[in-house]
Amino acid sequence: MPHISLDEVTMRFGDIYAVKDIDLVIRDGEYLTILGPSGCGKTSLIKIICGLWTPTEGRVSIDGVDVTDVPIEDRHVGYVFQNIALFPHMKVLKNVSFGPRMQGRTVEEGREIAEKSLRLVNMLERLEMFPRELSGGEQQKVSIARALASGARLMLLDEPLSALDARVRMDLRYEIRRLVKDLGITVVHVTHDQDEAMSVSDRIVVMRNGGIVETDTPMRLYRRPNNLFTAYFIGETNLMEGMVSGKDDRNLLVRLRDGTDVKVGGNRHFQVNDGVILSVRPEYVYTAKEGLHSTVLQVIYLGSYWRVVTRSNSADIVEYNIPKHREPPAIGDKVSLVFNRKMSMVYKRPREGTSEAIRLE
Ligand SMILES: Nc1ncnc2c1ncn2[C@@H]1O[C@H](COP(=O)(O)OP(=O)(O)OP(=O)(O)O)[C@@H](O)[C@H]1O
Ligand SMILES: [Mg+2]
Repeated sequence: MPHISLDEVTMRFGDIYAVKDIDLVIRDGEYLTILGPSGCGKTSLIKIICGLWTPTEGRVSIDGVDVTDVPIEDRHVGYVFQNIALFPHMKVLKNVSFGPRMQGRTVEEGREIAEKSLRLVNMLERLEMFPRELSGGEQQKVSIARALASGARLMLLDEPLSALDARVRMDLRYEIRRLVKDLGITVVHVTHDQDEAMSVSDRIVVMRNGGIVETDTPMRLYRRPNNLFTAYFIGETNLMEGMVSGKDDRNLLVRLRDGTDVKVGGNRHFQVNDGVILSVRPEYVYTAKEGLHSTVLQVIYLGSYWRVVTRSNSADIVEYNIPKHREPPAIGDKVSLVFNRKMSMVYKRPREGTSEAIRLE
């Protein structure tokens, strides 16, 4: 099974860096997603891995063999590109058996392989249809079958589900994961949908501005993001500006702009007077007798819970959840908010300002 490594990979077009200084190891059989805002370099990275592009600098290797200068047709990767790209003049069967035929298989062998992979995506009964006779989701399934039929042990999926309805997208994402895990295929899946990335990945690479922000399991990226951008980009979070007002060997005190002190666990490397950003996910914000004084701005019903949006005395927008069976507060009500000490994260206040540090571009 393939394992891929990228070593200081950079792709530059004049002054524009599509990707910059990428170091990444993708493990055998891993389901890795690349997640990041539009234009951050996700497709570029896929093109470099599959061999469509030779990077300006750096090396790519597959199974320990340097393939930096090996063209796409000799890398044995299957790919599904961002825009559905079935051959429009070929029926489903021919589209899917195209790869095996090109590899020198007979018509019968090609058909057998195509049928096997179409069965895996539940599209066997569409053999004799043209792509234009299929829905977008069905075309995507055929693209995936075609990639599987190519016999590749490495699959590169660039936004394979982005053209689909939310419902179909959800069904298909689990189907793809189950399929490739059954077959032991290594997958690199590009998406800008964080729910999709969270639900299918072994690990997620968070990208921004052509670089990697951090790489980790979905759970660690959600619970313990190392970086302010990750905290903001994955899941939802409340960000509050503050300053370290005290510390002992177990906790840090963070003073918010209205003078409220918030106790947070860990974070021993900060010093008193450091400018920081406190990040707390809505599910770790609770109401209490004493806490950060806030005024309710909005109450939103979200089916399984209520979302309460407040403006605090520290001038931060702070959101929290309450269970659906509880009575929500009314707009204008005063509430006091406290934060789960262990699930509060603290980051160094970025020199460029918070809004710049989390800007999606
Ligand atoms: N052929 C090219 N020539 C010049 N610049 C390019 C070229 N291809 C990509 N870029 C630039 O590289 C950057 C990264 O593009 P890329 O397509 O990798 O983004 P992406 O993360 O896939 O975005 P999206 O989510 O919108 O698909 C962009 O700024 C883009 O303009
Ligand atoms: Mg792209």
